[in-house]
Parts: sequence; structure tokens; C-alpha cells
Amino acid sequence: MESITNVKEYEVIAKEKLPKMIYDYYASGAEDQWTLKENRDAFSRILFRPRILIDVSKIDTSTTVLGFKISMPIMVAPTAMQKMAHPQGEYATARAASSAGTIMTLSSWSTSSIEEVASTGPGIRFFQLYVYKDRNIVVQLLKRAERAGFKAVVLTVDTPILGRREADIKNRFILPPHLTLKNFEELDLGKIDKTNDSGLASYVASQVDRSLSWKDVKWLQTVTTLPILVKGVLTAEDARIAVQNGVAGIIVSNHGARQLDYSPATIMALEEVVKAAQGRVPVFLDGGVRRGTDVFKALALGASGIFIGRPVVFSLAVDGEGGVRKVLQMLHDEFELTMALSGCRSIQEITRNHIVAPWDAPHVVPRL
Ligand code: GLV
Repeated sequence: MESITNVKEYEVIAKEKLPKMIYDYYASGAEDQWTLKENRDAFSRILFRPRILIDVSKIDTSTTVLGFKISMPIMVAPTAMQKMAHPQGEYATARAASSAGTIMTLSSWSTSSIEEVASTGPGIRFFQLYVYKDRNIVVQLLKRAERAGFKAVVLTVDTPILGRREADIKNRFILPPHLTLKNFEELDLGKIDKTNDSGLASYVASQVDRSLSWKDVKWLQTVTTLPILVKGVLTAEDARIAVQNGVAGIIVSNHGARQLDYSPATIMALEEVVKAAQGRVPVFLDGGVRRGTDVFKALALGASGIFIGRPVVFSLAVDGEGGVRKVLQMLHDEFELTMALSGCRSIQEITRNHIVAPWDAPHVVPRL
């Protein structure tokens, strides 16, 4: 796929290539999909204040996340059921992430197991957790992730009930019958085959614990030795409670706009959360990142790194491991270019003064 020059082009090709039910599942947001569009649009309302005549002959994009040195502040978000995109699914993603020197987060709902992903070779991996009503399942999953060398738990906290993705309802989304949610196969919970509307919505309603609360975060800390990141924080209030509860980090996320429509774009919510966290835990972001400039904007607003979801799935669909490698490389190169053109030689040199946001100076920033 030599002709691809940016991350967004993969989605166009993936749409042509994938069966409609599968493309729609990956691409959709909730309800009116306002947040889906806003996740992207909001980035374009943030502009640069580049500094000039700084020697940028050497640029270092590397950073440290939870003590792990990675090549760039760009990591792989959890996305479910990757074998629907490509036969090698999560295998290919794991290999691409580790060859890019960055972190992959494996979804609970992967179509390759925790152990299979670990067997792809060395790499820093996080495990995304959905908390099932049956807590034995949760304890077992965490033990498996620990044994397989995963380094952190990414707890999704915005999904007591699945968001209403209307395309999935119309398409009667199911997991294609040759695939299973591999981690749950032996528990007989690996199929998503209920066809009266979105099969995933039914699965979540029957299995995921909608009573989940902060006391369960405390409980999780007693059943795993791994650090816990909470994914799905959008307000200062929750950021403060997260810090009080001893989490290792916060991910500002609206679940790729797939849960509560009319939630703000994550880049709009980021600074509020960063301020509330007061530097006590790192804050990350996912949602709408498609350019190296987006990565820089998130870091300037205080993020310690970002995660990409759909770009991984779409590049996987188009070109397997090579596609994911290329997406990570393109984002790296664009981010490095943005650093150079802004006069920043290291991640530490990226500051709030390198950008201007609509809430700083509405007269400078175009209204979209
Ligand atoms: C799974 O987490 C989804 O959003 O479909």
C-alpha cells in the first residue's frame, strides 16, 4: 500500500474491503454520532504557536509510560474482535506495536487469547478489562494477564450498558460464527450470536456488571498486582475521585464516541482532567487522533500520551501487520515533524504555550 500517505486513507479503503456489518461496527458512534464528528473537529480548533530558530537537528520522540520506555507517546488502544478485520487480528497488531517500540492494549473481547498475544514475542502490553457479573471470571482474567507478562490493567469505566449504535441494531450485529471471544471460549461465553438487534448490546446486558462503582476499583486493586488505569474519565470531579482511589493513571476517553453521544470531544475535556489530577497520576487521551499534530496538541494540553483505536483496525483490515506498522510509522513521522516545526526537541519541551485553544483566545481560533 505504497500510495497511502496518511492515516485517514486507510478508513476509505477498509470501507470498500470489509463486509458492511463489520465496517459499520468499527466505524460507528452512538446515536446521532455528534461526538464521533466532534472528536475530530475539536482538534482542528486548536492551533499552534510555533517557536522558530531553535536547533532541531536532533529530535527525540521517546517517552516513559508507567516506568516503561517507549519510542513515542503514541500507543495502541483496545479495540474488540480484530480478527473480523484481518485473519491475524490481534497477533498482527501486537507484532506491529512491538516493532514500533510502543505499547499495545489488548481488549477483553479479543479474538486471540491473552496467551496467544503474549506468544507473539516480547512487547509491553496492557490488558483492557470489562468487569463481568461473575467476579471469578474477572479474577481469572487478571491472573492470566499477569502470568502472560502484561504490565497494566486498563479498566473501562464508561460501559455499564452498551451505547446505542444504530448501525449495529439495523445490521443485527453478531460475531461471525468462525470467531470467538477467545478469552471466554472455555467459559462458554465466547459467542455473540443473539440476532434480535445488536448482539453485542445483548451480550453486555447479560454479562457486564452495571453495578460497577469505585468500591470495585478498590476491590480490583486487591486481586491484581498490576497498576490500574481508568479509561473513560471526562470530568475534573471523576479525575479527583480516581486519584483518591489510588489509580495509576487516567485515560480521558469517550469510548471512541460509542457510548454517551453529546459527550465532549476528548481533546476538549483533557485540560480539565489534567488540572484536577495535579500531576499526581499521568493522564492519557484517546478519541479522534489521526495526525501527528493531534498528538502534539494533546501533549501540549497535558497528556502523557495518546492511544489510537480505529486507525489500527482499519489499517489492519487493509494490510494486516504491515498496515498497522505503517500507521504507527506515519503518526510517528508526523509527530516528529510537528515537534521540529514547533521548535521542540524532546517531549519535555512541548508546553501549553505551543498551542492556542478556543477558550484562550476565541478571536484567534476559527469557529467551525
Ligand atoms: C467495545 O468495546 C465496543 O465499543 O464495541
